[in-house]
Amino acid sequence: MVININETCDLVIFGAKGDLACRKLLPSLYKLEKANKLSNKMRIIGVGRANWDKNTYSDIVYKSLQQFMKIKIEEHVWKNLFSRLEFCNLDVNDTHSFHKLKPILCRSNHLIIYYFAMPPNTFSAICKGLGKVNLNLDSTRIIIEKPLGSSLKTSKKINYEISKYFLENQIFRIDHYLGKETILNLIAFRFSNSLFYYNWNNKFIDHIQITIAEKIGVEGRNKYFDNTGQIRDMVQNHLLQILTIITMSQPINLCSNNIQNEKVKILKALRPFDNINIHNKVVLGQYSENIINGKKIPSYLDDIRKKEHSNTETFVSMKVNIDNKRWYGVPFYLRTGKRLPKKCSKIVIFFKNVPVNIFNNHQNNLPKNKIIIYLQPNEGINIQILNKIPGLEPNYKLDKINLNFNYNRGFKQIELFDAYDRLLLESIRGNQALFVRKDEVELAWKWIDSIFNSFNICRNPPILYPSGTWGPVLSNIMIEKDGYTWN
Ligand code: BG6
Repeated sequence: MVININETCDLVIFGAKGDLACRKLLPSLYKLEKANKLSNKMRIIGVGRANWDKNTYSDIVYKSLQQFMKIKIEEHVWKNLFSRLEFCNLDVNDTHSFHKLKPILCRSNHLIIYYFAMPPNTFSAICKGLGKVNLNLDSTRIIIEKPLGSSLKTSKKINYEISKYFLENQIFRIDHYLGKETILNLIAFRFSNSLFYYNWNNKFIDHIQITIAEKIGVEGRNKYFDNTGQIRDMVQNHLLQILTIITMSQPINLCSNNIQNEKVKILKALRPFDNINIHNKVVLGQYSENIINGKKIPSYLDDIRKKEHSNTETFVSMKVNIDNKRWYGVPFYLRTGKRLPKKCSKIVIFFKNVPVNIFNNHQNNLPKNKIIIYLQPNEGINIQILNKIPGLEPNYKLDKINLNFNYNRGFKQIELFDAYDRLLLESIRGNQALFVRKDEVELAWKWIDSIFNSFNICRNPPILYPSGTWGPVLSNIMIEKDGYTWN
């Protein structure tokens, strides 16, 4: 599918040589270039404190593409990308230096998108600098990324600082999960298939499990992660986005505000934690050393090079309730962790058993129907139903069978793009549906605050689990108490 982009934009990247730019943005721009999805005249303007000219910056870009791209860099693609690159030397903490950006941007009358690929404590300074030289025109957009605060209070502060210079319809808050093909497909799966559409509620669904498991540890992000932890790093954003999309009611159409309105209704209906229910509903863990296949896997403390203890959780599992008409009584089990046995994100929807089991004489406890949606890797959908085992025996014998759909096999000819490829493109198109609205971020933080306000982390520090296992045993006990097991 060739997408035409009519809008020509200039993309200004603050933090031009930072980790986000090098690992994610530049490879995405390369892929979009290769796929011919960038408009001819679009420019990419790196901003940073270094005193670079175009050529030095281009060398840096080329080297980082070599380092982070999994594919070979093609000469003609690079040539096109190179022609778009410019560099502006500017210190975001020096408001006066923003005047240097003006002549570069005024050379064209393109739509301008500012990507703040820098930590949130710089956002206010960047906005102020742009405001000072009137570069925050109504026609501009900004893209910002987490961590958008660490609590309701701090996220409100970030939102407030930005709102002094940009309106909500100019602000694109990234949660990269919203750019994943399989997350977008959740909307199609739920709202276009009558087979599931009518059954998506507490009358038919028994419970839902959502897992985001990672094999990796903290990967050198020691300070950031130790101050953040798995709940703030993964639950506040990615897991809650999945939860809201899988549970929201049908929006009246696909316009961003209508989708976001439905997600917000779910966030408002999340039952908050309190100091009584929290202990049965939330399990925190931290990985410890282990030997896997003869290889020593370091503990979290070794990874972050900390000698004394840390109360930061690298694993969390929780039971969540949504107090609205559609979901009352359906438990949602969420878990996410680092150094688990494998990388795997999936949603498992368990349906209730039929009300009367006529096969009861031969088999009771028939397994529940379930839908497993594999978000990554090996994206696909698996539906488990019951089937008669063929044979001449007088009695019915049932067993579960799998109906499988796998993206790699099903869409062999179609290239699957990464989340950042899509999100960059959608920000150019101005489609905010794949971005997070202010009230979504704040409601998510309000609910996360209820966890930290109810937990006395010093009295209940995370439980150690050996690297390469599925978290503390208590996580299994939590779900087994309700008569279930993790899928
Ligand atoms: C990021 C988190 O947002 O998502 C990381 O900060 C995590 O800690 C990453 O590793 C996981 O993303 P993905 O796309 O690999 O599931």
